[in-house]
Formats: sequence, C-alpha cells, structure tokens
Amino acid sequence: MTGPTRGFGRVAVERILAGSPKAHLVLLARGTAGAELATDLSRKGHSVTSIPVDLLSLGSVRAAADEVARRLDRGELPPLRMLVSNAGVLFTNDVTESPDGFEATFAVNVLANHVLIRRLQDRFEAASRIVITVSDAHFGDFRHNKGMMPGPSWKDSALLARISAFPKAETVTAGGIANSTSKLAAIYLIHEYARRLPSGVDIVGYNPGFVPGTGLTRGAGAAVRLAMRTIMPLMTLTSLASTQQEAGRHFADVVLGLTPAPSGSYVDRTREARSSWMSSARSTSSPTPAGNGPSAADGTRIPTGNRGDKEQGSMIRHNDSGRQSRT
Ligand SMILES: NC(=O)c1ccc[n+]([C@@H]2O[C@H](COP(=O)([O-])OP(=O)(O)OC[C@H]3O[C@@H](n4cnc5c(N)ncnc54)[C@H](OP(=O)(O)O)[C@@H]3O)[C@@H](O)[C@H]2O)c1
Repeated sequence: MTGPTRGFGRVAVERILAGSPKAHLVLLARGTAGAELATDLSRKGHSVTSIPVDLLSLGSVRAAADEVARRLDRGELPPLRMLVSNAGVLFTNDVTESPDGFEATFAVNVLANHVLIRRLQDRFEAASRIVITVSDAHFGDFRHNKGMMPGPSWKDSALLARISAFPKAETVTAGGIANSTSKLAAIYLIHEYARRLPSGVDIVGYNPGFVPGTGLTRGAGAAVRLAMRTIMPLMTLTSLASTQQEAGRHFADVVLGLTPAPSGSYVDRTREARSSWMSSARSTSSPTPAGNGPSAADGTRIPTGNRGDKEQGSMIRHNDSGRQSRT
C-alpha cells in the first residue's frame, strides 16, 4: 500500500487489517514514517513490514517493487493479492519537477502507479484487486468540484508528463489543473490495465470525494490551510464532504472487496458509479501512437487511452481475453 502514513489512508490501514486480520501488509512510504507505522501496527499484533520508497523517483519505485518481488520469491511474503495505490500529491504550481524530469504531480499520481503495477503485474495471484485512489476532480464541473478545483485539461501524455503543460504554469490554478488532469490520467490507466491484466486480477478506481483536514493541501498558502483546518471540516456535516474516518472506511471496503466493483470501474465513495463523460469519451479515441507517449524509466510506454466497445460514462468492455469489465 502506498500513502498509508497519513490522511484517510492511515484510517484505511487499520480497517483493512481489521477486516483481513491474516493479511501481511507491506507499507510503501517515504522517510521513516513507514517503518514507524509498521512498528506501531506490529506491536498491536498485525503482520506488517515497511519498504521505503519515494514515489517522485521512478528509480525508487522500481527498487521498491523489485524488493516486494524478491521477498515474494524468497517466501518472506504471502502471495500477492492486493495493491493499494493511495498516495497522491497536489502542488501549488505546474513547474515542480521530479528527479527524472517529469512534472511532480504526474510522476506521483500517474507514473508511480504505472511502474508499480507494471513491475508487479506477473506476481498477482487470482483473485487479486488493485485499487487506485482517483478523484471526482476529474469531472471538472461545479457539482463535483464545488468550485474549489479547476477541471482537467487533457493533452498528449508526453506533454502532461512534463512541467508547464498548462497556461500560467507558476500559479495555483495550473497546479490544480495538473491535479485534476493527473486523476483523469489515472482513470485512463485503470481502463487500460483492466484490458491488459489477466483474468482474476481486477483494478478499480476509488473516489473519496472531498475530505478536508488531510495533508493534501499542506503546500498551499496560509489562508487555504487555515480554511482547511477551520471552515472546511464543517462541510463534513453535509453530504458535500466526508470525514477522514468515513473516507478511510469506504476505501477499506473497496480494497477488501466489500463494495462490489468490476474491473475497470470507478467507485464513488460507497458504490460503483459512472466516471466523467470525458474519462470514457477519451477512451473511444485512438491511443497515443507507440513511441509518442512518455517513456517510463523501465522502458515501458505510459498507457494513454482505451480501446474497446463503449457506452458513454459507464462502459461495458470486452478485453482481448473476452473478459467483461465496466468503466
Ligand atoms: N483529501 C481530499 O479531499 C481528496 C480528494 C480526492 C482525492 N484525494 C486523493 O486521496 C489520496 C490520499 O490523499 P489525502 O487527502 O489523504 O492526502 P495526504 O494526507 O497528503 O496523504 C497522502 C499520502 O501520500 C503519501 N505520499 C505523497 N507523496 C509521496 C511520495 N513522493 N512518496 C511516498 N509517499 C508519498 C504521503 O506520505 P507522506 O506522509 O510522506 O507525505 C501520504 O501518506 C491522494 O491520492 C489524493 O489525491 C484526496
């Protein structure tokens, strides 16, 4: 699991372990936070280990995935049946660069997920589930964004992967567009992997809705951080926002398979739902031609779209093996 150390991911960790007490959870986290959390959870009797990773660096992601694979090979971990990709970032600009020269939001929210799945895809044993935390910011409309987050602006993934993909790249607005667009890209990634993963290995997206009080806006200006601590939590008294406890519980339900969700689907908090028109409309167009997308550091192309039979919003698709999935 990535992103287990804070926010609603931290809540989900406890619930996943409570719901699956025999699971061995591998925490993929940066710095010492993962090791500290692993110690804490082990003391409570859970089977937990930590592998350090900085998701900004694809080399670090590859090393962490390879370490998981090594431990699986040595029998130090039980068979791999879950990947929980929760980590995500929101920057206040579109000019923050990862060590590999990618735009930082895209690097963490999209490329790290891709490299993790790609490196581990042959290790999953049926029945497995991969869950990626996405966002209803990918809709880009007031109903979903409450006017707080600009909508996505899709471009060729080779452009999106680099800084300054959006106008006025130094601004908070450009950082917001980068976030929304990265979550749309993560949904495309889910669609593509739903097509490619073997039968019995499912992949779904989870939207927590608006969850104030997490660390996501920690890089924002003082006014936004103050509002997040004081005013925004009041929204959790309405249906407009979820508490971290609620979002963590819903998330764990998706991970544990308690929320029905076929491969390729989008879960809006507690139930499978249609993702945005754009997220499926894009799926109807040709993917970026081979050689045109950004190259992940492991030599793989970044999936950019989906081919298949479509139905607007929620799509029933048949992958190459004839397996049906809904997106
Ligand atoms: N909060 C919301 O309203 C909202 C809405 C829609 C979607 N989401 C999504 O929900 C997910 C969780 O977000 P949150 O709100 O709970 O935010 P959060 O409190 O900031 O948690 C983010 C998690 O990601 C980890 N992370 C970030 N960058 C990393 C890196 N380079 N390497 C390793 N780990 C890294 C963080 O670890 P550190 O402790 O080391 O920073 C933390 O565990 C994200 O994908 C976010 O985009 C949130």
